Amino acid sequence: MADLKSVLFGVLLMFCSCEAYKILAIFPVPSTSHGILGDNMIKHLLNAGHEVTYITPFIKTKKYNHPNLKIVDVSANEEYFDESLTDIKMIMSGALDYKDPVLMAQLTIMLATTTLGNPNVHSFLKDPNQQFDVIIGEYMFSDMYSVFQAVFQCPFIWFSTIQPHWGILKMVHAPLNPSYNSDYIIGNVAPFTFKERVQELWYQLKGLFYHKYINPEQEDKVYQEHVVPILRAQGKPVPNYEELKYNASLVLGNSQVVFGNAVPLPPNYQHIGGFHIDEDVKPLPEDLKKLMDNAKNGVIYFSLGSNIRSKDLPDSMKEGLLEIFGKLKQTVIWKFEENLDKTPKNVHIVQWAPQQSLLGKLKCNDNYINGLYIYRYTAKIKEISVAYHHSPMKPGEALNFWVEHVVRTRGAPHLRSVALQVPLYQQAYLDLLAVILAAVAVILLVVKRILSLFTSESPKLKRN
Ligand SMILES: *[C@@H]1O[C@H](CO)[C@@H](O)[C@H](O)[C@H]1NC(C)=O
Repeated sequence: MADLKSVLFGVLLMFCSCEAYKILAIFPVPSTSHGILGDNMIKHLLNAGHEVTYITPFIKTKKYNHPNLKIVDVSANEEYFDESLTDIKMIMSGALDYKDPVLMAQLTIMLATTTLGNPNVHSFLKDPNQQFDVIIGEYMFSDMYSVFQAVFQCPFIWFSTIQPHWGILKMVHAPLNPSYNSDYIIGNVAPFTFKERVQELWYQLKGLFYHKYINPEQEDKVYQEHVVPILRAQGKPVPNYEELKYNASLVLGNSQVVFGNAVPLPPNYQHIGGFHIDEDVKPLPEDLKKLMDNAKNGVIYFSLGSNIRSKDLPDSMKEGLLEIFGKLKQTVIWKFEENLDKTPKNVHIVQWAPQQSLLGKLKCNDNYINGLYIYRYTAKIKEISVAYHHSPMKPGEALNFWVEHVVRTRGAPHLRSVALQVPLYQQAYLDLLAVILAAVAVILLVVKRILSLFTSESPKLKRN
């Protein structure tokens, strides 16, 4: 009897804690660093036993193999996102200005249009057998992936790749206060000077203006063209684009307080930063390991990341960097996309570095003033590391917890922010300011009137 009870209990427990959900993950940005985030997101979801459908452009370069994983191929996005968009020469010359909200909006709307117009996405959306418990969509400055909700009629979660940004927060709560929250793209460090504070306000107002008055028209057009006909054909209701845009249940942020600013965030914003870091660091490939072991004076790793390519640097700058690197006693590993001839002995070119393994092994040793700086950085990094690791849940666990929370609570309506229903002018009390100004104006008018009565009568008195 006792045995049966414990078996039943065990079975019950299994049902409670391992409920498998159907999850749609939309990660259409054809850039390696975004792909790493998407891949690790689905890895955690699959490990938790869920079924995942993954919209990804990386089908040609990566092998996706899991019985619970289905792929929707948007590799055509790679053609759209060609190298000219991340050419460092163009960025340095100002020809490409990513601080410009017009450029940013154009790029992201174009990418969303390409994704929604993709024949594979079309046939996926049209397939009546597709059903999901929840959708996770990468934000990347585009609100458009919210339209998937209309087709699958289920809760929607945004995934934001950067520190908390007003662009995503305005969709689930309200924009961040620009007087002490830097726009990631501008990169000021709070507390700001007067000039910086005004600059932050100006950028945010400009961005909000585009978001409210310029972009929606184009976005709605794409929605009408690519999604609405499918809804009609399936006999589903056709919600307004605006309604979909502000209907997300949660934001999962690739952020952690310890790496950013300790600012108040709404409860529907949850940090999961670090979820993409492997728990067990893979050993370095043999060639790199040998290089690192033989570097008596330490190693310097130089990389511009995955979006910006070293090969696009102006030639003079490449030569200048090589010259400086050549004079160092350290071994320099440079992530460079093609082979360089005439590299100094201590400089080694790698096309792609297993960064996590590499960084884990990097040691800096230097003398005098540089050494002091490095000790300061090392101490700071250790402090951050303690705070990062001392948390109630690992980032990957937090990811699964919040996704499951949204499904179980049918869209987490208890986390919805009432601020969404309060227009910004009311949040800033601009209406009160208007009432006060109007009252002051009326009082001034009345006073002026009364004074003019006196002053217009006094001359008469004099004349008499
Ligand atoms: C809005 O969100 C709720 C809860 O997450 C979801 O059930 C509903 O389908 C969404 N509404 C629309 C119009 O997509």
